[in-house]
Amino acid sequence: MLLPIARVGISVANHPSTVSDQIRGNHNLAALLPVPTLGGMADPEQPGMYLADDPVVAQYERWLYPAPVNDLRDPSVAQYVQGYGTLKGLSSIYWPAGGMREDLDVLVAGCGTMGAACYALLNPRCKVVGIDISRAALAHEQKLKEHHRLDNLSLMHMPIEQAASLGKTFDFVACQGVLHHMPAPPAGLRALGNVLRTDGVIAIMVYARYGRTGVYMLQDLFRLMGVEQTPEGVSIVRQTLANLHSDHPVQPYLRHATDLSSDAGLVDTFLHRRDKCYSVADCLRLVDEAGLAFQGWDQNFFYYPEGVFQNAPAVAQRIAQLPEQKIWEAMDLALGAKGVHYFHVCRRDRDPASYRIPWNSALLLDCIPTPLAKLAQVQKQSGGPPSLALVQPNRMPIVVNEAQAAIFSHFDGRRSLAQCATAAGIRETGDPLVRIIDGFFKLVWRCGFANLRLPPKASTPAAI
Ligand SMILES: C[S@@+](CC[C@H](N)C(=O)[O-])C[C@H]1O[C@@H](n2cnc3c(N)ncnc32)[C@H](O)[C@@H]1O
Repeated sequence: MLLPIARVGISVANHPSTVSDQIRGNHNLAALLPVPTLGGMADPEQPGMYLADDPVVAQYERWLYPAPVNDLRDPSVAQYVQGYGTLKGLSSIYWPAGGMREDLDVLVAGCGTMGAACYALLNPRCKVVGIDISRAALAHEQKLKEHHRLDNLSLMHMPIEQAASLGKTFDFVACQGVLHHMPAPPAGLRALGNVLRTDGVIAIMVYARYGRTGVYMLQDLFRLMGVEQTPEGVSIVRQTLANLHSDHPVQPYLRHATDLSSDAGLVDTFLHRRDKCYSVADCLRLVDEAGLAFQGWDQNFFYYPEGVFQNAPAVAQRIAQLPEQKIWEAMDLALGAKGVHYFHVCRRDRDPASYRIPWNSALLLDCIPTPLAKLAQVQKQSGGPPSLALVQPNRMPIVVNEAQAAIFSHFDGRRSLAQCATAAGIRETGDPLVRIIDGFFKLVWRCGFANLRLPPKASTPAAI
């Protein structure tokens, strides 16, 4: 019989019980967490009412994802934990007008086994709430909460679609690797938008379409073969991967994936029962359908041609001439290798002056750049004497001329772009100066080699 989740204890909209309440005193997870059978669906009539045998619930109850460890300082998860440093690392991108407090209210939506604990550990002054539809995942988060004494973390057994029943609003919502598993992702994202404060930010990761082409071929193959989410099924997946042709389109994906050593990672990637992927245009449509505003990509380098096509200026120019959204679409197609898209969105009623860079305007001159790259001498591919370039680990260097290098050398997180230009001996003023700064800073920003703080007067005071 199919039961709504509320009846098996997952979510009671008006009176959510915390996971601590649910599991306190009972560490026998096998007894606590029955594994439903596969094959059912979320109830299409009632968004957020997952049936007990919903395939996504069933999968994450049984195949704990990510494969959990009992201590977040374990070197085997160092890279994973570091990935959750985004709140600190990207806060100047989320809130470029400043005003980011350290004691934010954070929601980790679809937290899995470790995500909410990572945010709570890395941001001790934030109050973190983790929600998930998998009790098994939450039980592991609870273990980490106790192990690391994370008093700033609370956990709720609740679908994202019912986030409003938390009765709280948040400054920051993290939703990584979840929306693409929901029956109606725009409804899920809309539910998150409804608990976001006016100046808040939602950080999202969804599967990318083109870099996962080979993954979907193998998913189709395993469906054809009738491979199930069982230990035997996982063994068939492993044997298939080990014997694939070296030209199979999945090979580049396999080289970059970090979660395929665990059974749960293999099930998640190749045997998932509900998994959608997104082109750039799909990401923008998702945000629009959720009634939110697209704020930006986390890593500009991959969405603009200036870095990737610097050795093909005719290609870079053609792409750069397109409208902004078409530039992103073109780069998605040109790269063709991205397995995921990371981006951030906000409410439509957030003041755009608090997060949009005032390109092509005198206001740009008052903005304050922070360097994320270094100046160095590099050898050009074409030979000849070494050139000055901006360099960042794991990125192609960007060759700059002497005037540009001089301007960049004054980026220090305190001086405005106009002050950097003056210090570099640039004599132009007015519109000519705006043109010089706009052209150079756009190059630097599109390559992810500097951030920009907006001058306080260009923005409304942050409400968070
Ligand atoms: C691939 S895991 C990602 C976990 C975590 N965000 C991470 O990046 O490590 C997806 C998680 O989302 C949860 N999930 C899926 N649909 C959900 C929904 N509608 N509401 C809440 N959680 C959901 C699953 O139970 C699972 O724990």
